[in-house]
Amino acid sequence: MSTYVILKHLHMTTAYLTVILFTLRLVLDAVGRPGWRQTPLRWIPHANDTVLLIAAISLLFVGGWNPLDQGWLMAKILLLLGYIAAGLFALKLTVARPVRIIAAVLALFQVSFIFHLAMTKPVLF
Ligand code: HEM
Repeated sequence: MSTYVILKHLHMTTAYLTVILFTLRLVLDAVGRPGWRQTPLRWIPHANDTVLLIAAISLLFVGGWNPLDQGWLMAKILLLLGYIAAGLFALKLTVARPVRIIAAVLALFQVSFIFHLAMTKPVLF
């Protein structure tokens, strides 16, 4: 298997895991189990997201992708920033519940859009 294929598998696996781990933490909060913050679930998503990003950046280098030439990649980067920001609000206990719900919906919408862009690679510019 080529380096590119291995990196892409790693990137895709961690991409699915980021959604699963984010949703799991939202559900635990929603059912009144905020104690996950005192378990490995506190750091596992960060470790996963770090691998996701390292694999993404490696794909750019190994695959010769340039976000300035590929609109869908630039859009992914911007949406990733939005996903991170909304995700932070969604999981912050000190933030009012309605705001956290809106932030959770926004985060899930943005990460779904990232998947859509990754799979369809539309020509944006
Ligand atoms: C939460 C963030 C991200 C998610 C959920 C995600 C998801 C995915 C998925 C599912 C694929 C596989 C698409 C396919 O079926 O072919 C993919 C491919 C890829 N992603 Fe990401 N991605 C994310 C962030 C990024 C970032 C920040 C970059 C770089 C700027 C990036 C660069 C790439 C590249 C270069 C490919 C390979 C395209 C190909 O070979 O077909 N991704 N991504």
